[in-house]
Amino acid sequence: MVQRTIKGANEKLIDPVADSPGFDDTESRIAILGHPVHAMSVAFPVALTFCTFGADLLYWWTGDAFWARAAMWAVGAGFLFGMLAGFSGTAELLLVSGIRARAAPWTHFIVAVTLISLLGANWGYRLHGYESAVLPYGILLSACCVLVVGFTGWHGGKLVFDYRLGTSKGN
Ligand code: HEM
Repeated sequence: MVQRTIKGANEKLIDPVADSPGFDDTESRIAILGHPVHAMSVAFPVALTFCTFGADLLYWWTGDAFWARAAMWAVGAGFLFGMLAGFSGTAELLLVSGIRARAAPWTHFIVAVTLISLLGANWGYRLHGYESAVLPYGILLSACCVLVVGFTGWHGGKLVFDYRLGTSKGN
């Protein structure tokens, strides 16, 4: 059964999502003096995820317990800062109608929650013996976190630079 047909060259196609009220309202609401909190907070989980993997590699190479302890602190802080970034991002997603209406921010949400869960699991696993946890499962979890944080950050950048979500309209 064909539900939609194109009858003439001049017929205007309507995107029902783009037609929804508030579709063009995409400006950030969770901001301090116009600076979006989410954009300011995401740098911490991104950097700490890479630091965790780096510390795991250094522990594997040197066998120095310092690096295993550093990895435990880095992934714990990464998880907590990831939660913070997640709260500001979720508030933005739910409060701003133009962000809520689009599919891409929901994809970003799912990938980001996967990342936060992996960071939490990686941290929790180390709390019962940070040195024995590194090889092999700790470092494998850290490698997964690096892959997922790369995707999360790249996709978040796409939301801002390609779709212009969370940006100010200017005057
Ligand atoms: C868990 C829920 C999350 C939601 C719902 C969410 C949602 C969003 C939204 C709507 C934007 C567009 C800009 C804005 O409105 O502020 C954005 C941007 C971004 N997000 Fe998330 N986010 C989440 C978590 C994360 C996490 C955990 C990370 C990284 C570890 C992350 C990384 C980014 C990056 C890098 C940008 C681009 C920021 C910029 O360049 O200005 N997001 N996110």
